[in-house]
Amino acid sequence: MSTALPQSTGVIAEYRARLAAGSIVFDSAQASAAERLQALWAKLRGYDPHPKAPPNGWVGRLLRRKQVDDVSDHPNGLYLVGDVGRGKSMLMDLFFEAADVPRKKRIHFHEFMQDAHRRFHAIKRDNPGINDPIPALADLIAEDAALLCFDEFQVHDIVDAMILGRLFEALFARLVVVVATSNTLPDDLYKGKPGRDAFLPFIGFLKQNLDVLVLDAARDYRRERLHGLNAWYVPADTRADAAMDHVFTTLAAGAPAQPGSLMVSGRKLAVPLSVPGAARFDFAALCGTALGPGDYLALATHYQTLLIDGIPRLSPDNFDEARRFVTLIDALYEHRVKLYASAAALPDDLYKSGEGAAIFERTASRLEEMQSDAYLQLPHLT
Ligand SMILES: Nc1ncnc2c1ncn2[C@@H]1O[C@H](COP(=O)(O)OP(=O)(O)OP(=O)(O)O)[C@@H](O)[C@H]1O
Ligand SMILES: [Mg+2]
Repeated sequence: MSTALPQSTGVIAEYRARLAAGSIVFDSAQASAAERLQALWAKLRGYDPHPKAPPNGWVGRLLRRKQVDDVSDHPNGLYLVGDVGRGKSMLMDLFFEAADVPRKKRIHFHEFMQDAHRRFHAIKRDNPGINDPIPALADLIAEDAALLCFDEFQVHDIVDAMILGRLFEALFARLVVVVATSNTLPDDLYKGKPGRDAFLPFIGFLKQNLDVLVLDAARDYRRERLHGLNAWYVPADTRADAAMDHVFTTLAAGAPAQPGSLMVSGRKLAVPLSVPGAARFDFAALCGTALGPGDYLALATHYQTLLIDGIPRLSPDNFDEARRFVTLIDALYEHRVKLYASAAALPDDLYKSGEGAAIFERTASRLEEMQSDAYLQLPHLT
């Protein structure tokens, strides 16, 4: 394999194969991003900085110091940033698939942080005397992966902001290479939020260890693919089913649809059908069962797009479903999730009268707004 000519394998080869197959169109910004990713791909062939965790005690300390000394050989990662639909996730996924790195992991950034908090507290709980759980946490993460690919890198939360700086410093010291996609330039991360000053060193580390690559692709390819497709299909008949199938296939962009699951507070939430970035549910599965705000929040942070089939008319007779639907739409709206649905009526006519109709007015207004061009162009908030 290593005798292959440069560029006959790796990211560029895969990118060209997709162009040749017609599944994507040529875009010069994407082509140059693919070249940057190819260069990193070549540097990382067989990358395995310390397959075994160094032992504890003085040997471990020496080994760790050596790793830190070796930082000069440590290839910089990449921070792919740009507006929505420019192909960042597509390119990162292509890179991740091609990467010849024995320990690699691709994870949605929001889930990585949730997992980091969970492990941080578990380390504290299991080691009551421990001063600082970050080194142990970084050891665990670095044992799992020498290459970490993060989709949708964002920082909103003071708790994340506080932990991130030290965690990333520890991960870089363990020679972990990070590739990330984001809608926000590093200098604009966590801007205008409380405690920003304490967060600035993190931005410094990030820029030292990741090359920033602005993906200024010509178009919003997601919007373009979905162009002319309605977001709301009335009534929920077989024509609407066919239209919803078409939306889902378009979003899939060739990827197979599969059932999946999300972990919510240690429980599994079943997702009947998903493709990268999008999930599809029947209304009954989503609002007719005992799901709660935590489940809806998990869906809203994980998926950029949600499809709901068969929203019925709502009334005091199916008030539980209506109440869950209101909670769901609040979560989707707050996280700028794009919604496609088939329904018995237009949003304003879904909940016409009876107790609860007044509360639904806000939901109907949000549903209207969620179909607007302005809303559809907003980045997903995780
Ligand atoms: N050159 C292209 N030709 C056709 N389709 C493309 C092209 N580039 C990307 N796409 C498609 O456009 C959609 C959006 O791409 P992608 O999800 O990678 O965007 P993104 O930059 O990650 O957006 P976001 O910031 O919202 O996460 C995907 O379905 C992808 O397959
Ligand atoms: Mg993306």
